[in-house]
Parts: sequence; structure tokens; C-alpha cells
Amino acid sequence: MGTLGKVEIIVLSDPAAVGRHAARLIADTLAGKPDPVLGVATGSSPLATYAELAALVHNGLDLSRASAFALDEYVGLDPAHPEAYHSVIHRTVTVPLGLDPARVHVPNGSAADLRAACADYEAAIEAAGGIDVQLLGIGANGHIGFNEPGSSLGSSTRVKTLAPRTRRDNARFFGGEAEAVPVHCLTQGIGTILRAHSVLLVATGESKAAAVAAMAEGPLGACCPASALQLHERATVVVDEAAASSLRDREYYDFARDNAPEGAFGRD
Ligand code: GLP
Repeated sequence: MGTLGKVEIIVLSDPAAVGRHAARLIADTLAGKPDPVLGVATGSSPLATYAELAALVHNGLDLSRASAFALDEYVGLDPAHPEAYHSVIHRTVTVPLGLDPARVHVPNGSAADLRAACADYEAAIEAAGGIDVQLLGIGANGHIGFNEPGSSLGSSTRVKTLAPRTRRDNARFFGGEAEAVPVHCLTQGIGTILRAHSVLLVATGESKAAAVAAMAEGPLGACCPASALQLHERATVVVDEAAASSLRDREYYDFARDNAPEGAFGRD
């Protein structure tokens, strides 16, 4: 198993295989770092990866000195609300991975001064030495974090307005009511994500196929925020067959995976 960035697009049979592979890539990337820094995402996509990482922790992987930075948070939800990303990250990441809660950071969507909270968040990431590996899902509209279409490709952590489609997609977490989904959020910017030392995007299912194709093969542009990953020299995309089903150049991705040059790292 290699380190992140050796293979650009990895297509695996099913979501369980995606989770296993992504967890192994993260473990390999963080291995040997005295104070590893993991970027974490919410949503359904990374859950299998967290479950596999938890199994690795159970079998001896030590993440007790790891720091974590979440991508985003809703504005105006009490951090104790079960769907506030503070709670979601605690439940799905901090506890199962045995992280020290004092080292787990989520943007403060309840701050009186949201702009200052965003600046503080960027400073905290920098003070930690940057993010070693940023795990990402992808929205059906191509968003990463909560960087909706139209986001600046150079953006830093800031306040954003959610797209109506994202509010509809996330209504399932709020009793099926899109109106109950907050309108605003804080999110790491695309520039923030690009500053991570490596990025790992996971996507599964047919509903992500168009976004995955636009990200990997579409033109680079703000209309598909995830396409910014084309600029990152250590970006790895792990998808299942269904999420890969609209990729045009599948033959090459598989060939490149099976014929990676010795010591390769990064986009060639
Ligand atoms: C959410 C999150 C993103 C996530 C995306 C996809 O709104 N802010 O970080 O990647 O939408 O979610 P899912 O994995 O549940 O499809």
C-alpha cells in the first residue's frame, strides 16, 4: 500500500473497499509523524473510512497525539445540537478514533464575531503546522466542505450561504425539512483545502457520478469547486464503481494504478 498521491484516481468495487483503502492511506500518511494533523469531513461518505480507521486504532494505530480540523460548521446551531458539526465530529471521529478532544477543532459557528472566528481557525491550522491529510467528501453539486459553486478557488475560511440544493440534500438530518437546515455556515476555503499537504476525496454511489467526473475531468473552475483539486500535487480520489461510472478516461486510471512508476508521488 502506498502513500497518498501515488495514484490519482482509484476505483474500487464498493463503499466498503473505498473505506478500507482510504483508512489505510490515511494511516500510512500519518505514520511516523510525532504530531499528525488530520483534516476531517462530515457527511455520509467518510463514515466507512472512520469505521476502518477505528478498527486500525483498535489494532494498535495510535492517534492520541493527532490533531484534527473539521472542514465546516453551521452558523447559529448550538454546538450541542446533534446535527451541529461539533457534535457530529465528536460522535463519528473523536470518540471512535480515540482522539484527544482538546486537539479536535471545529469552526465556531456560534461566535459573536464570525469573521474573527474564521481568522482564528486559519491561524490554528497554521500553528499546527498545516494539515497532513485532508479527508473530503463531495456534494452532488461539486462542493467540497461547504464551498458552493461560485466559491473563489483562492478562498480561506469564511462565512458562506448554503445552496438551496445543499439544504435540500441535508434536510434528511433535520427531520426532512430543508427549511430547518441553517442558511449560513463557516467553511474552510478552497485555498485552505489546497494548502493541506495532501488531500484524499472519497465518493460512493451513482448520485456522485456527475460531480466526480466534473471534478476530475471537467474544466477547472468555480462552477465545480472540487475541480480545484486538479491544482493539488498530492490529491487522491478513491471512488466505487457507481461513483466512477461517468468518468471518461477510466481505462487510463486503472492502467496508471497498475503501472505506477517506482517512487512516484504526485500528479505527473
Ligand atoms: C455536506 C458537507 C460536505 C460533504 C457533503 C456530501 O454538506 N458539508 O463536507 O462532503 O455535504 O455529503 P455526503 O457524504 O453525505 O453525501
